[in-house]
Amino acid sequence: MGEQFHLERATMADAPAIQDLVSGFASLGEMLPRPLAEIYEQLRDFLVVRDNNRLVACAALHIMWEDLAEIRSLAVLDEWQARGVGAQLVEACLDEARALGIITVFALTRQPSFFERLGFHQAEVMALPRKVWGECFRCPKFPNCDEVAVIIEFKA
Ligand SMILES: CC(C)(COP(=O)(O)OP(=O)(O)OC[C@H]1O[C@@H](n2cnc3c(N)ncnc32)[C@H](O)[C@@H]1OP(=O)(O)O)[C@@H](O)C(=O)NCCC(=O)NCCS
Repeated sequence: MGEQFHLERATMADAPAIQDLVSGFASLGEMLPRPLAEIYEQLRDFLVVRDNNRLVACAALHIMWEDLAEIRSLAVLDEWQARGVGAQLVEACLDEARALGIITVFALTRQPSFFERLGFHQAEVMALPRKVWGECFRCPKFPNCDEVAVIIEFKA
């Protein structure tokens, strides 16, 4: 078994560091930026990994509907990548989704193969109408999305 990381619920003090981590990758076009206001609003969605007091990774599980949740803002600091942190964050989000009785979890990503290793399969983003019409239409890239939808489904 590989290294186990200490995953914790985010607190308000983590929000600026979450934004910095996500912004760094967003500026490279690897993910979408998140406004600080949205991070505060959705802070209870976030899990983080800290090294002493430094935030090194984060991920959020955001409930969309009775049977649907999204993994968003998954980011691992460069020097912490390839050690299993990202996979453990995704597994923790999936455990929480299962415990809540959510059947489908999806992510929009430019790293579909990372998610496929964890049991997700690729899907058409338009197969996620709640996401598309709830949020995507506000995205500056809509409708020319450069992300791939990946989905995992649990038995009801
Ligand atoms: C994608 C990301 C979250 C992966 O996190 P990580 O901690 O490096 O990944 P892990 O070490 O847990 O990797 C788990 C497995 O996926 C593989 N993997 C990691 N990144 C991958 C990628 N981009 N593509 C394909 N496979 C990948 C690893 O080799 C590992 O495989 P193994 O189990 O056979 O050893 C991280 O690279 C990152 O933060 N990238 C920048 C932001 C981003 O793209 N976020 C995703 C947006 S949804």
